[in-house]
Amino acid sequence: MKAIEVRDLVKVYGHEVRALDGVSLDVEGSTVHALLGPNGAGKTTLIRVITTQLKPNSGYARVFGYDVTKESSEVRSLIGYVPQEVSLWSDLSGYENMLMYSKIYGIPREIRRRRIEELLDFIGLSEASGRLVRTYSGGMIRRLEIAIALMRNPRLLILDEPTIGLDPGARSLVWDKISEFRRENGVTVFFATHYMDEADKYADYVTLLNQGRVVSHGTPNELKRHVEGNKVLITLKNNTDSSRLSEVLSSVPGVAISSFDNNCLELVISDVPTRLPAILEKIFVSGYSVSEVKIREATLDEVFIKLTGRRISDESGRMKEVVSVRKMIRRGG
Ligand SMILES: Nc1ncnc2c1ncn2[C@@H]1O[C@H](COP(=O)(O)OP(=O)(O)O)[C@@H](O)[C@H]1O
Ligand SMILES: [Mg+2]
Repeated sequence: MKAIEVRDLVKVYGHEVRALDGVSLDVEGSTVHALLGPNGAGKTTLIRVITTQLKPNSGYARVFGYDVTKESSEVRSLIGYVPQEVSLWSDLSGYENMLMYSKIYGIPREIRRRRIEELLDFIGLSEASGRLVRTYSGGMIRRLEIAIALMRNPRLLILDEPTIGLDPGARSLVWDKISEFRRENGVTVFFATHYMDEADKYADYVTLLNQGRVVSHGTPNELKRHVEGNKVLITLKNNTDSSRLSEVLSSVPGVAISSFDNNCLELVISDVPTRLPAILEKIFVSGYSVSEVKIREATLDEVFIKLTGRRISDESGRMKEVVSVRKMIRRGG
Protein backbone atom coordinates (compact mmCIF):
# COMPACT_ATOMS: atom_id res chain seq x y z
CA MET A 1 0.00 0.00 0.00
CA LYS A 2 1.13 3.53 -0.68
CA ALA A 3 2.18 5.50 2.38
CA ILE A 4 1.24 8.78 0.70
CA GLU A 5 -0.84 9.42 -2.39
CA VAL A 6 -1.24 13.02 -3.54
CA ARG A 7 -3.33 13.98 -6.57
CA ASP A 8 -3.70 17.33 -8.33
CA LEU A 9 -3.31 19.24 -5.09
CA VAL A 10 -3.91 22.98 -5.29
CA LYS A 11 -3.42 25.37 -2.38
CA VAL A 12 -3.86 29.09 -2.86
CA TYR A 13 -3.06 31.51 -0.01
CA GLY A 14 -5.27 34.59 -0.13
CA HIS A 15 -6.24 35.17 -3.74
CA GLU A 16 -3.01 34.90 -5.61
CA VAL A 17 -0.22 32.86 -4.00
CA ARG A 18 -0.53 29.45 -5.65
CA ALA A 19 1.74 27.60 -3.22
CA LEU A 20 0.68 24.24 -4.70
CA ASP A 21 -0.30 24.32 -8.34
CA GLY A 22 -1.50 20.79 -9.13
CA VAL A 23 0.91 18.53 -7.26
CA SER A 24 0.74 14.73 -7.60
CA LEU A 25 3.12 12.28 -6.01
CA ASP A 26 3.29 8.78 -4.51
CA VAL A 27 5.40 7.62 -1.61
CA GLU A 28 5.77 3.85 -1.47
CA GLY A 29 5.69 2.19 1.95
CA SER A 30 9.04 1.59 3.74
CA THR A 31 10.99 3.95 1.48
CA VAL A 32 12.76 7.22 2.21
CA HIS A 33 11.36 9.92 -0.04
CA ALA A 34 12.74 13.45 -0.32
CA LEU A 35 10.86 16.53 -1.42
CA LEU A 36 13.63 18.73 -2.77
CA GLY A 37 13.23 22.33 -3.83
CA PRO A 38 14.29 25.92 -3.17
CA ASN A 39 12.77 28.22 -0.59
CA GLY A 40 9.20 29.04 -1.47
CA ALA A 41 8.72 25.94 -3.66
CA GLY A 42 5.73 24.80 -1.59
CA LYS A 43 7.34 22.02 0.46
CA THR A 44 6.01 23.14 3.85
CA THR A 45 2.57 23.79 2.38
CA LEU A 46 2.43 20.25 0.97
CA ILE A 47 3.57 18.79 4.30
CA ARG A 48 0.94 20.84 6.13
CA VAL A 49 -1.77 19.42 3.87
CA ILE A 50 -0.51 15.86 4.33
CA THR A 51 -0.29 16.29 8.11
CA THR A 52 -3.92 17.54 8.14
CA GLN A 53 -3.10 21.10 9.28
CA LEU A 54 -4.19 22.82 6.09
CA LYS A 55 -7.13 22.20 3.74
CA PRO A 56 -6.32 22.18 0.04
CA ASN A 57 -8.45 24.16 -2.45
CA SER A 58 -8.73 21.11 -4.68
CA GLY A 59 -7.24 17.70 -5.24
CA TYR A 60 -6.70 15.16 -2.48
CA ALA A 61 -4.07 13.49 -0.34
CA ARG A 62 -4.23 10.09 1.36
CA VAL A 63 -2.02 8.53 4.00
CA PHE A 64 -2.14 4.72 4.01
CA GLY A 65 -5.47 5.06 2.23
CA TYR A 66 -7.00 7.58 4.67
CA ASP A 67 -8.11 10.91 3.27
CA VAL A 68 -6.30 13.78 5.01
CA THR A 69 -9.36 16.03 5.14
CA LYS A 70 -12.14 13.49 5.77
CA GLU A 71 -10.24 11.03 7.99
CA SER A 72 -7.79 13.36 9.65
CA SER A 73 -7.66 11.68 13.07
CA GLU A 74 -6.78 8.30 11.50
CA VAL A 75 -4.08 10.06 9.49
CA ARG A 76 -2.69 11.82 12.57
CA SER A 77 -2.52 8.54 14.50
CA LEU A 78 -0.26 7.04 11.82
CA ILE A 79 2.28 9.83 11.45
CA GLY A 80 5.14 11.27 13.45
CA TYR A 81 5.86 14.83 12.43
CA VAL A 82 8.81 17.15 12.94
CA PRO A 83 7.88 20.65 11.78
CA GLN A 84 10.27 23.13 10.19
CA GLU A 85 10.01 25.52 13.14
CA VAL A 86 11.17 24.52 16.61
CA SER A 87 8.35 22.84 18.54
CA LEU A 88 9.79 22.58 22.07
CA TRP A 89 9.44 24.49 25.35
CA SER A 90 12.85 26.04 25.90
CA ASP A 91 12.24 26.62 29.61
CA LEU A 92 11.61 22.91 30.26
CA SER A 93 14.17 20.11 30.32
CA GLY A 94 14.43 17.50 27.58
CA TYR A 95 12.72 14.97 29.82
CA GLU A 96 9.91 17.40 30.71
CA ASN A 97 9.32 18.13 27.03
CA MET A 98 8.98 14.42 26.35
CA LEU A 99 6.60 14.08 29.30
CA MET A 100 4.39 16.93 28.06
CA TYR A 101 4.12 15.37 24.62
CA SER A 102 3.53 11.88 26.04
CA LYS A 103 0.48 13.30 27.83
CA ILE A 104 -0.71 15.15 24.72
CA TYR A 105 -0.34 11.92 22.73
CA GLY A 106 -2.18 9.90 25.36
CA ILE A 107 0.66 7.47 26.10
CA PRO A 108 -0.62 5.41 29.09
CA ARG A 109 0.81 6.62 32.41
CA GLU A 110 2.32 3.24 33.37
CA ILE A 111 4.53 3.05 30.26
CA ARG A 112 5.35 6.77 29.87
CA ARG A 113 8.57 6.81 31.86
CA ARG A 114 10.03 3.68 30.24
CA ARG A 115 9.11 4.84 26.74
CA ILE A 116 10.68 8.28 27.31
CA GLU A 117 13.86 6.79 28.73
CA GLU A 118 14.18 4.31 25.87
CA LEU A 119 13.80 7.09 23.30
CA LEU A 120 16.18 9.48 25.07
CA ASP A 121 18.74 6.70 25.16
CA PHE A 122 18.15 5.86 21.49
CA ILE A 123 18.53 9.47 20.38
CA GLY A 124 21.65 10.00 22.53
CA LEU A 125 20.18 12.53 24.97
CA SER A 126 19.98 10.54 28.22
CA GLU A 127 22.74 12.50 29.88
CA ALA A 128 21.34 15.87 28.81
CA SER A 129 17.73 14.99 29.63
CA GLY A 130 17.69 17.02 32.86
CA ARG A 131 19.03 20.19 31.22
CA LEU A 132 16.81 23.00 30.01
CA VAL A 133 16.26 22.84 26.27
CA ARG A 134 17.41 26.47 26.12
CA THR A 135 20.96 25.18 26.67
CA TYR A 136 20.77 22.57 23.87
CA SER A 137 22.59 22.88 20.54
CA GLY A 138 20.55 22.98 17.33
CA GLY A 139 21.39 19.31 16.67
CA MET A 140 20.24 18.23 20.15
CA ILE A 141 16.96 20.13 19.67
CA ARG A 142 16.32 18.38 16.37
CA ARG A 143 17.09 14.99 17.87
CA LEU A 144 14.74 15.60 20.78
CA GLU A 145 11.98 16.58 18.35
CA ILE A 146 12.60 13.38 16.42
CA ALA A 147 12.38 11.34 19.64
CA ILE A 148 9.03 13.02 20.33
CA ALA A 149 7.82 12.23 16.81
CA LEU A 150 8.74 8.57 17.35
CA MET A 151 6.91 8.31 20.66
CA ARG A 152 3.78 6.76 19.15
CA ASN A 153 5.65 4.34 16.87
CA PRO A 154 4.51 6.03 13.66
CA ARG A 155 4.23 4.14 10.38
CA LEU A 156 5.15 7.33 8.56
CA LEU A 157 7.71 9.86 9.76
CA ILE A 158 7.40 13.30 8.15
CA LEU A 159 10.22 15.78 8.64
CA ASP A 160 10.23 19.34 7.33
CA GLU A 161 13.84 20.48 6.79
CA PRO A 162 15.18 18.18 9.53
CA THR A 163 18.73 19.54 9.43
CA ILE A 164 18.17 23.19 8.50
CA GLY A 165 20.91 25.38 9.95
CA LEU A 166 22.90 22.47 11.46
CA ASP A 167 26.61 21.96 10.93
CA PRO A 168 27.73 18.85 8.98
CA GLY A 169 28.51 16.78 12.09
CA ALA A 170 25.12 17.46 13.66
CA ARG A 171 23.41 16.79 10.31
CA SER A 172 24.96 13.36 9.93
CA LEU A 173 24.12 12.45 13.54
CA VAL A 174 20.46 13.34 12.91
CA TRP A 175 20.49 11.14 9.82
CA ASP A 176 22.23 8.26 11.59
CA LYS A 177 19.37 8.19 14.08
CA ILE A 178 16.65 8.39 11.44
CA SER A 179 18.33 5.59 9.46
CA GLU A 180 18.77 3.43 12.56
CA PHE A 181 15.10 3.78 13.53
CA ARG A 182 14.09 2.97 10.01
CA ARG A 183 16.21 -0.19 9.86
CA GLU A 184 14.68 -1.42 13.09
CA ASN A 185 11.06 -0.42 12.49
CA GLY A 186 10.58 -0.26 8.73
CA VAL A 187 9.00 3.19 9.03
CA THR A 188 8.38 5.20 5.85
CA VAL A 189 10.23 8.53 5.83
CA PHE A 190 9.07 11.59 3.89
CA PHE A 191 11.19 14.70 4.28
CA ALA A 192 11.46 18.15 2.77
CA THR A 193 14.85 19.71 2.19
CA HIS A 194 16.66 22.26 0.10
CA TYR A 195 19.99 20.48 0.67
CA MET A 196 20.54 18.51 -2.52
CA ASP A 197 23.34 16.42 -1.02
CA GLU A 198 21.00 15.26 1.74
CA ALA A 199 18.33 14.15 -0.73
CA ASP A 200 20.98 12.44 -2.83
CA LYS A 201 22.56 10.59 0.07
CA TYR A 202 19.59 9.53 2.18
CA ALA A 203 16.57 9.26 -0.12
CA ASP A 204 15.60 6.23 -2.20
CA TYR A 205 13.37 8.46 -4.23
CA VAL A 206 13.31 12.23 -4.84
CA THR A 207 10.55 14.57 -6.00
CA LEU A 208 11.82 17.93 -7.30
CA LEU A 209 9.42 20.76 -6.52
CA ASN A 210 9.57 24.28 -7.95
CA GLN A 211 6.97 27.05 -7.69
CA GLY A 212 4.26 24.69 -6.54
CA ARG A 213 4.83 22.13 -9.28
CA VAL A 214 6.58 18.80 -9.55
CA VAL A 215 9.48 19.29 -11.94
CA SER A 216 10.65 15.69 -12.03
CA HIS A 217 10.91 12.63 -9.82
CA GLY A 218 12.89 9.41 -9.60
CA THR A 219 15.81 7.82 -7.81
CA PRO A 220 18.79 10.15 -7.48
CA ASN A 221 20.54 8.25 -10.27
CA GLU A 222 17.53 8.42 -12.58
CA LEU A 223 17.32 12.17 -12.02
CA LYS A 224 21.00 12.64 -12.78
CA ARG A 225 20.44 11.19 -16.23
CA HIS A 226 18.81 14.51 -17.12
CA VAL A 227 22.30 15.99 -17.11
CA GLU A 228 24.34 15.00 -20.11
CA GLY A 229 27.76 13.67 -19.25
CA ASN A 230 29.99 13.77 -16.20
CA LYS A 231 32.60 16.33 -15.38
CA VAL A 232 36.13 14.99 -15.57
CA LEU A 233 39.09 16.96 -14.21
CA ILE A 234 42.43 16.11 -15.72
CA THR A 235 45.60 17.60 -14.26
CA LEU A 236 48.52 17.63 -16.67
CA LYS A 237 52.17 17.54 -15.75
CA ASN A 238 54.16 20.68 -16.61
CA ASN A 239 52.73 23.85 -18.08
CA THR A 240 50.89 23.07 -21.19
CA ASP A 241 50.06 24.78 -24.43
CA SER A 242 46.32 24.76 -24.02
CA SER A 243 45.40 25.79 -27.54
CA ARG A 244 47.08 22.78 -29.14
CA LEU A 245 45.50 20.31 -26.73
CA SER A 246 42.09 21.93 -27.16
CA GLU A 247 42.45 21.38 -30.88
CA VAL A 248 43.43 17.74 -30.38
CA LEU A 249 40.41 17.11 -28.14
CA SER A 250 37.94 18.93 -30.32
CA SER A 251 38.15 16.05 -32.79
CA VAL A 252 37.00 13.52 -30.18
CA PRO A 253 33.23 12.87 -30.19
CA GLY A 254 31.21 13.16 -26.96
CA VAL A 255 33.68 15.53 -25.29
CA ALA A 256 33.34 19.21 -24.46
CA ILE A 257 35.99 21.32 -22.80
CA SER A 258 34.38 23.37 -20.05
CA SER A 259 37.54 25.06 -18.81
CA PHE A 260 41.32 24.93 -19.14
CA ASP A 261 43.27 26.88 -16.52
CA ASN A 262 47.01 26.43 -16.02
CA ASN A 263 47.35 22.70 -16.43
CA CYS A 264 43.94 21.75 -15.14
CA LEU A 265 41.60 20.64 -17.85
CA GLU A 266 37.89 20.27 -17.14
CA LEU A 267 35.91 18.19 -19.60
CA VAL A 268 32.29 17.15 -19.86
CA ILE A 269 32.20 13.62 -21.18
CA SER A 270 29.17 11.53 -21.99
CA ASP A 271 29.64 7.82 -21.30
CA VAL A 272 32.83 8.16 -19.26
CA PRO A 273 33.65 4.43 -18.92
CA THR A 274 34.00 3.89 -22.67
CA ARG A 275 35.23 7.33 -23.76
CA LEU A 276 37.75 8.26 -21.10
CA PRO A 277 40.43 5.68 -22.02
CA ALA A 278 40.48 6.90 -25.64
CA ILE A 279 40.73 10.52 -24.48
CA LEU A 280 43.64 9.77 -22.20
CA GLU A 281 45.34 7.89 -25.01
CA LYS A 282 44.88 10.87 -27.31
CA ILE A 283 46.37 13.21 -24.71
CA PHE A 284 49.28 10.81 -24.24
CA VAL A 285 50.13 10.33 -27.92
CA SER A 286 50.03 14.09 -28.41
CA GLY A 287 52.98 14.31 -26.04
CA TYR A 288 51.35 15.31 -22.76
CA SER A 289 51.49 13.46 -19.48
CA VAL A 290 48.72 13.28 -16.96
CA SER A 291 49.28 13.45 -13.20
CA GLU A 292 45.71 13.11 -11.92
CA VAL A 293 42.21 12.28 -13.12
CA LYS A 294 39.06 13.06 -11.11
CA ILE A 295 35.57 12.08 -12.20
CA ARG A 296 32.72 14.08 -10.71
CA GLU A 297 29.17 12.79 -10.81
CA ALA A 298 26.36 15.12 -11.75
CA THR A 299 24.62 16.66 -8.72
CA LEU A 300 20.89 17.08 -8.14
CA ASP A 301 21.51 20.84 -8.19
CA GLU A 302 22.73 20.52 -11.78
CA VAL A 303 19.62 18.51 -12.61
CA PHE A 304 17.46 21.24 -11.08
CA ILE A 305 19.29 23.98 -13.00
CA LYS A 306 18.90 22.02 -16.21
CA LEU A 307 15.14 21.58 -15.67
CA THR A 308 14.22 24.97 -14.20
CA GLY A 309 17.06 27.38 -14.92
CA ARG A 310 17.49 28.13 -11.22
CA ARG A 311 19.53 26.77 -8.33
CA ILE A 312 18.00 24.90 -5.39
CA SER A 313 19.80 26.95 -2.79
CA ASP A 314 21.94 30.00 -2.66
CA GLU A 315 24.32 30.66 0.18
CA SER A 316 22.82 34.01 1.17
CA GLY A 317 19.43 32.39 1.65
CA ARG A 318 20.99 29.61 3.66
CA MET A 319 22.83 32.03 5.95
CA LYS A 320 19.62 33.89 6.64
CA GLU A 321 17.97 30.63 7.67
CA VAL A 322 20.79 29.67 9.99
CA VAL A 323 20.45 33.02 11.73
CA SER A 324 16.67 32.77 11.95
CA VAL A 325 16.77 29.18 13.24
CA ARG A 326 19.28 30.18 15.92
CA LYS A 327 17.06 33.10 16.94
CA MET A 328 14.09 30.73 17.11
CA ILE A 329 16.05 28.34 19.33
CA ARG A 330 16.97 31.19 21.69
CA ARG A 331 13.36 32.33 21.81
CA GLY A 332 12.20 28.77 22.26
CA GLY A 333 10.22 28.33 19.08
N1 LIG B 1 0.45 31.52 5.43
C1 LIG B 1 0.83 31.97 4.23
N2 LIG B 1 0.19 33.02 3.65
C2 LIG B 1 0.55 33.47 2.44
N3 LIG B 1 1.54 32.94 1.69
C3 LIG B 1 2.20 31.90 2.20
C4 LIG B 1 1.88 31.36 3.50
N4 LIG B 1 2.72 30.31 3.74
C5 LIG B 1 3.51 30.21 2.65
N5 LIG B 1 3.21 31.16 1.73
C6 LIG B 1 3.84 31.31 0.40
O1 LIG B 1 3.61 30.11 -0.31
C7 LIG B 1 4.77 29.73 -1.07
C8 LIG B 1 5.26 28.38 -0.63
O2 LIG B 1 5.73 28.46 0.71
P1 LIG B 1 6.26 27.19 1.51
O3 LIG B 1 5.26 26.11 1.39
O4 LIG B 1 6.61 27.65 2.88
O5 LIG B 1 7.56 26.79 0.68
P2 LIG B 1 8.90 26.02 1.12
O6 LIG B 1 8.59 25.23 2.35
O7 LIG B 1 9.25 25.18 -0.05
O8 LIG B 1 9.93 27.07 1.38
C9 LIG B 1 5.76 30.86 -0.86
O9 LIG B 1 5.62 31.77 -1.91
C10 LIG B 1 5.34 31.47 0.45
O10 LIG B 1 5.72 32.82 0.54
MG1 LIG C 1 9.53 25.13 4.18
